[in-house]
Amino acid sequence: MKNIDRLKNTYFKIYGNHLEVEQAFENLQDIITEADKQRDNRLKEMDKKESNWYFSNKMVGMTLYTDLFAGSFSKLSKKIDYFKELGITYLHLMPLLKPREGENDGGYAVEDYKNVDPLLGTLEEFEKLLKIYNKSGIKICIDYVVNHVAKEHAWAQKALNNEKQYQDMFIMFDDETTPNLYNQTVPEVLPDKCPGNFTYYPEIDKYVFTSFSHFQWDLNFQNPYVFNGMVDNLLYLANLGVNMIRLDAIPFMWKEINTTCRNLEPIHDLMHMFYLIKEDVCPSCALLGEAIVEPEQIVSYFGDNHQTECEVMYNANLMVDIYNSFASRDARLMTIDANRFQLPKKGTWMNYVRCHDDIGWGFNEQAVAELGFDPHAHKQFLIQFYGNNFHDTFSKGEYYQYNPKNQDARTNGTLASLLGLEKAIDEKREYKRYESIRRINLAHALIMSYKGIPLIYSGDEIATLNDQSYKEDPNKQKEGRWVHRPFFDWKRAKNKEICDTNEYDVYQALKEMIKQRKKLPQLHGQTEQYAIDTQNKHVFCFIRKHQSKTLIAMFNFSEMSQNVNVYALRQFATSSKYKDVFSNRSINLYDEKIELSPYEYLWCIQV
Ligand code: GLC
Repeated sequence: MKNIDRLKNTYFKIYGNHLEVEQAFENLQDIITEADKQRDNRLKEMDKKESNWYFSNKMVGMTLYTDLFAGSFSKLSKKIDYFKELGITYLHLMPLLKPREGENDGGYAVEDYKNVDPLLGTLEEFEKLLKIYNKSGIKICIDYVVNHVAKEHAWAQKALNNEKQYQDMFIMFDDETTPNLYNQTVPEVLPDKCPGNFTYYPEIDKYVFTSFSHFQWDLNFQNPYVFNGMVDNLLYLANLGVNMIRLDAIPFMWKEINTTCRNLEPIHDLMHMFYLIKEDVCPSCALLGEAIVEPEQIVSYFGDNHQTECEVMYNANLMVDIYNSFASRDARLMTIDANRFQLPKKGTWMNYVRCHDDIGWGFNEQAVAELGFDPHAHKQFLIQFYGNNFHDTFSKGEYYQYNPKNQDARTNGTLASLLGLEKAIDEKREYKRYESIRRINLAHALIMSYKGIPLIYSGDEIATLNDQSYKEDPNKQKEGRWVHRPFFDWKRAKNKEICDTNEYDVYQALKEMIKQRKKLPQLHGQTEQYAIDTQNKHVFCFIRKHQSKTLIAMFNFSEMSQNVNVYALRQFATSSKYKDVFSNRSINLYDEKIELSPYEYLWCIQV
């Protein structure tokens, strides 16, 4: 194992260097050696050829639930043409490992990591699906819920059976003293649905750390055997042949009294160890981190050039900046944020405008204050604007986890409903419909060109609206996020071929963007990106450079036409003559100005 020394150093750094830990480390080495033996030759060949695939501009992602989209693995195997037609080359299949029965947080309460959800099919069917998709050039990512297990997981069951060794794999206490201490500094994740951070279990007379819900038990990563066991699962999943593994809820993985129990330093060592191990056993399988926290914390999970952690991170900050720019018609915060962090060489973003989760309004508070806004009031503005509780808002999103103590809340809703289509349809106002379609297309054009992998949330490509039918399902009705997790509507999807339908207007524009993206080496994940202040706050603009070829992308976040100051662009560009790849419109940087129509986007390449 080539990374053994670094691994050992980090392991001993966090677990201490004594005999018991030596034994635990030997156990870890056995797990790694065994997984290496199990990795089949086809995957080993792939490991040799494909370690940096996630940087390619050919990568275009979609995320979906197998059951809601197709019903089962075998049916999903037959839907490959749908993805190919749009140009999708990466598919994130939402939780598909065996979850607990009944309510299971959309599959994020896993009972068995080495088995799949029987409602979706068998493990063999899943492996077959992986091969079919990989053969067609579509990479597959799956979720790995690493912070917690379902209370039906074997470890938790043994703990409930009073087995001390397994109780040590969780964080549990005999009385309320320590839980109360934790609760003084640890914020609640779901204050409305699951208040408190602990659950009392009378059968063992103990209080168990449960950040997300009473049925999701947080693992105790201070126990090296928890880490070892989770490495074993990780390598098992990689050896099935998946191309990327999404590490769920990583900021929660380490707990200490008198802290918020978020983003604590040892998590970075855990991440780095996962990375070192996977680099040895399965380097073509990339690690995607999910950390929906403050922007400066998100970026920290890339690690740095000496200590890589996750290769790809969700760009939650960009998502918030996109909604912020639409609501305030002001893209300055996005400009500041785009230039804020330099990613390490191995790292790139996963850029998205919607996903299966709610939107948490975490933004760069200092920059907001410097722009002259009060961060608290500004957050309230976004909550109200997208929660359909603001004068003249176009949005029909919904409040989520409202906290009456501080009026904090997050937001649910589909892209189309959030950006105005649902309201426009309700009000039967064609002009508003047109505006909302332009917003949706602008948002897609932005994630398609921003540094990283673009990720479309299934259903957004056909302008899916909020769906209230989850309220009829007893396993879903208490969880508002299902409003944006409907069954895929195959009948409505046919409209994507019929001119002037919402589906057509969104789908065809997106398809064209994908086609263009794949032709533009400037959009490769390793090329530079720099955001430019155009002196017009409504317009976001950045340049990407590949060798001497520059691409200038511009996005007008307002419903009014805008002029862009060409002088600012000239300083960065290597030539003066450009054309927009979508309209073929010529852009000359020696013209007086560039005019953008309402919500217009341009991708200008040198001619
Ligand atoms: C992640 C998932 C979310 C889930 C949570 C707990 O944030 O995206 O859906 O509820 O983790 O597993």
